[in-house]
Amino acid sequence: MILVSGANGNLARAVIDNLIASLGDLSGLAVGSRDIGTDYVRQLASRGISVRKLDFHEPGSVVKALAGIDRVLFISTYEPNDVRIKQHRNAVDAAVQAGVSHVVYTSFINAVPESAFEHNRQVHAPTERMILDSGLHYTILRHNLYTEFLVGDLAQTLKSGRLKRGGGRGRISFIGRDDLGVSAARILTEAGHRDRIYTETGPEAITYEEAAVILSAVFGQPVRHEDLSPEQWFQHSLGMGFPESLARASSTNVRAALDGEFSTLSGDYAHITGHPARGVRQYLTDNRKKFLPTGA
Ligand SMILES: NC(=O)c1ccc[n+]([C@@H]2O[C@H](COP(=O)([O-])OP(=O)(O)OC[C@H]3O[C@@H](n4cnc5c(N)ncnc54)[C@H](OP(=O)(O)O)[C@@H]3O)[C@@H](O)[C@H]2O)c1
Repeated sequence: MILVSGANGNLARAVIDNLIASLGDLSGLAVGSRDIGTDYVRQLASRGISVRKLDFHEPGSVVKALAGIDRVLFISTYEPNDVRIKQHRNAVDAAVQAGVSHVVYTSFINAVPESAFEHNRQVHAPTERMILDSGLHYTILRHNLYTEFLVGDLAQTLKSGRLKRGGGRGRISFIGRDDLGVSAARILTEAGHRDRIYTETGPEAITYEEAAVILSAVFGQPVRHEDLSPEQWFQHSLGMGFPESLARASSTNVRAALDGEFSTLSGDYAHITGHPARGVRQYLTDNRKKFLPTGA
């Protein structure tokens, strides 16, 4: 049986929707969430999917949720890094205790201890180490920056004509969350992905300046890149609603982007799915309506 954690999250939904589309029989599918009372989770339950309360803060809930599960996708959380790493420790320990055989984990591109990106140093690299040391079979999914990162403040971007991001002329091979849902579902249902570390990227690496040109074309309004320093990005991301500790950690992303840490072009996505992920222009075009601010 397969379990996806964090059912209410955006990536989780993309994975679950793909699993539903590919699995004929949903009795082998379970989801875990802190909140099992949402409309989305209730709707999953009504389709015969096993719904389980799961909170990485409560190790007992994770062990219980993993009863009878062979393969689990742990979606990394998005809290302050000192909290996240404890949650991930609880998740891995619970998988061992519950007798899960294969853990799939959503990590980040270049998740090495030397990365300039604080999330990599403090969360993803140590979580990967924990998983490797656990003795469990694993598949590590090192995702690049989501294409959605370009439209997180789209209303403001279109109004000001400025895409405010830090990274200078560093190239980034963005990949969309919906595409990552396709590959994760394949990994959870097909053989051949045990004990692998995959780097999942889009098919091209672009600068923010090039991303601004794409935004202009897709949304029909002139947009230029305004380059931000790490401190300026910190302030801007607070305005986008990031909690302070996350905004601070996220500002180290600027240094990593400048250093080219997110520029890798990997064939892993095509290896998993049989085709490349969509490029930024295609992905934004396909999702234009969804991303367009209401009233625009
Ligand atoms: N590659 C990128 O550009 C990028 C950008 C942002 C974030 N991320 C990472 O990728 C993850 C998924 O992204 P997303 O866009 O789907 O984020 P999201 O929509 O904000 O979802 C957050 C996820 O974390 C789960 N979660 C939070 N606290 C939890 C806890 N105590 N125990 C168990 N699960 C918990 C939530 O599940 P429930 O609410 O159902 O419990 C939900 O699935 C993020 O959490 C973050 O680690 C990557």
